[in-house]
Amino acid sequence: MSDSELREKVRQVGVEQNDMLLAGSWWHSIDLGDGRVTPGVHSLEELQGIYASLDLPEDLNGKSLLDIGCWDGFYSFETERHGARVTSVDCWHPNNFFAAREALKSKAEFHEHSVYELSKDKLGSFDVVLFMGVLYHLRHPLLALENVCELTRDFAVIESHIIDQMREGNEPAMEFYEFDELGGQYDNWWAPNLECMVQMVRSAGFARVELLFRSDTRAAVKAYRRWNDKPETVSPDLKILDVINATTFDHSFPHRGRNSGISIWVEGLPKTVRRWEVRVEVGGFGIHPVYVGPPGDPQYSSLTQINFPMPPGLELEKTNVSLWHDGKLSNEFVIHLSEGTKW
Ligand SMILES: C[S@@+](CC[C@H](N)C(=O)[O-])C[C@H]1O[C@@H](n2cnc3c(N)ncnc32)[C@H](O)[C@@H]1O
Repeated sequence: MSDSELREKVRQVGVEQNDMLLAGSWWHSIDLGDGRVTPGVHSLEELQGIYASLDLPEDLNGKSLLDIGCWDGFYSFETERHGARVTSVDCWHPNNFFAAREALKSKAEFHEHSVYELSKDKLGSFDVVLFMGVLYHLRHPLLALENVCELTRDFAVIESHIIDQMREGNEPAMEFYEFDELGGQYDNWWAPNLECMVQMVRSAGFARVELLFRSDTRAAVKAYRRWNDKPETVSPDLKILDVINATTFDHSFPHRGRNSGISIWVEGLPKTVRRWEVRVEVGGFGIHPVYVGPPGDPQYSSLTQINFPMPPGLELEKTNVSLWHDGKLSNEFVIHLSEGTKW
């Protein structure tokens, strides 16, 4: 299918969905358990198929889960049915959600907030966060992803419209839609290709990103806060000598915002080490280094400097910094976090 044919198809699907929505008002088909299924734009079979491909644990008992952009609530109620303690958020008051919640006798807690307003201070944090079908509705996608990361303790599922089929090349790219160019809908702003989506998710603070599924125009990824290859024992060959603030060069560590970047000075890494081979962990959360190389000051040329942003969502307390490379785990270096700015 040519680029223009695919764009026309996406526009047509958007227009048809809008018409169906106006006629029936339900986005999700939800089995209300009493023989009734809500007449959603998306069928029950389709939603159950997507749910299955999210690779969520069958048993979510004991897990807290946040569903951002819940709309009618299919994913909130489905995860609750699997045992999760669910909090649902949308930027408006979706009446259908409340009707379904009552019919299902669901305990899902609802908060009317934009994703931009969400913070750990306001809602706490969650084992699992769902952020599905929201990214391309946002004018400020990275800001939203940073909030999603701050609220996530274990992993987030992030699903979006993608543009890979509509443009050549694999370099990260996003399209901007000033009016209704995407799907004939005026509340779509940005759509990434998959590579851009993955890079933005990592840049927002997630340690690892795995692809869950990808179709012509949609993709979902699972974004983890932790690395999965931490060695069990500390190696005497890899030693953190100092941890400093990357901007102010002192030992102040705002837990977020301006001036919260960190530099580590480490002994024992080979000169050939590459940025993507080094794992950094702060307060239990993994984070990607943005720089791994020789320190600026030549008198420390035997050491390696590693720079990285503060992972979102850390508590204001003593926090351990460690790193590993090629199966060797460093010592833990303790830093004291202080209150940071929001931006
Ligand atoms: C396409 S629907 C996706 C619904 C559901 N998550 C799914 O995947 O089927 C997008 C949802 O995101 C919500 N939304 C849009 N902008 C938002 C924002 N800034 N903050 C929170 N929710 C938002 C919309 O109100 C809508 O319910």
